[in-house]
Amino acid sequence: MANADQPRAMLWDLPLRLIHWGLVALMPGLWWTAEHDEIALHKVLGLILLALVAARLLWGVVGGETARFARFVKGPGAILAYLRGKVRPGPGHNPLGGLSVLAMLALLTAEMALGLITQDVDGVESGPLNALVSYDVADRARHLHALGFNLLLVLIALHLGAIAYYRVVRRDNLVAPMVTGRKALGEGVSPPAMAPAWRAFACLGAGAALAWWLGAGAPH
Ligand code: HEM
Ligand code: HEM
Repeated sequence: MANADQPRAMLWDLPLRLIHWGLVALMPGLWWTAEHDEIALHKVLGLILLALVAARLLWGVVGGETARFARFVKGPGAILAYLRGKVRPGPGHNPLGGLSVLAMLALLTAEMALGLITQDVDGVESGPLNALVSYDVADRARHLHALGFNLLLVLIALHLGAIAYYRVVRRDNLVAPMVTGRKALGEGVSPPAMAPAWRAFACLGAGAALAWWLGAGAPH
């Protein structure tokens, strides 16, 4: 069992943490700008979020050990075994947490894709790829974009609820490691491998380039 006196190892790498806190900072801005009809700014924030989520998806393939999807995305069998207490997961997301990470990233991706093609009721404001779809598709996207936001709020509430549960019931502070990156991992647990910084720059650069291209209407 880990305890506070044990030396702390790097659990979450810097790119993963920067992306996470970037998402947290952008969500209220996305809500506020949509609520107050500041759609030009909403689209800029949405595209910044798109760059971060795209970078996170790439980081899930080439990033540090705890960031990798192959490490924490598990099938139903592994999730059940974990819930029954039959397996002790290594450092990082447990199989159930991994599922929630995947759900959040998938819903964020869907919400951004809908934002790209949506159009408001009067046809005044539209996403940068709106011209590529018919009026009916854009109209449906508008409804789904509004619904997607509410679903995101549900997932975020569950996310915060799970973190509070770990804090209060399991006496495990998950937030501090997401800020500092470090956590006491317990006797005999080897620290996860980290990835070189250049790969993080490459992922962020690719995410930014994709957001730029989509924001310009995906010229072809
Ligand atoms: C996770 C990211 C996003 C969230 C949470 C979000 C949320 C919202 C919300 C709540 C609305 C108001 C919906 C309504 O009540 O009708 C809205 C509208 C809008 N969003 Fe987003 N948005 C996101 C990403 C984007 C992106 C990436 C774009 C495009 C670059 C975009 C473009 C628009 C546009 C054009 C509208 C006005 C038309 C409409 O109402 O659908 N959004 N967004
Ligand atoms: C103040 C609000 C928030 C706090 C305190 C918080 C805290 C955390 C913590 C502690 C973790 C690590 C969980 C673990 O140990 O397994 C985490 C992971 C995560 N959170 Fe949050 N979170 C917040 C808001 C959000 C929001 C708004 C989103 C999405 C819109 C989000 C998306 C994620 C994702 C995708 C991960 C997985 C990290 C990764 O592997 O990249 N979080 N969060």
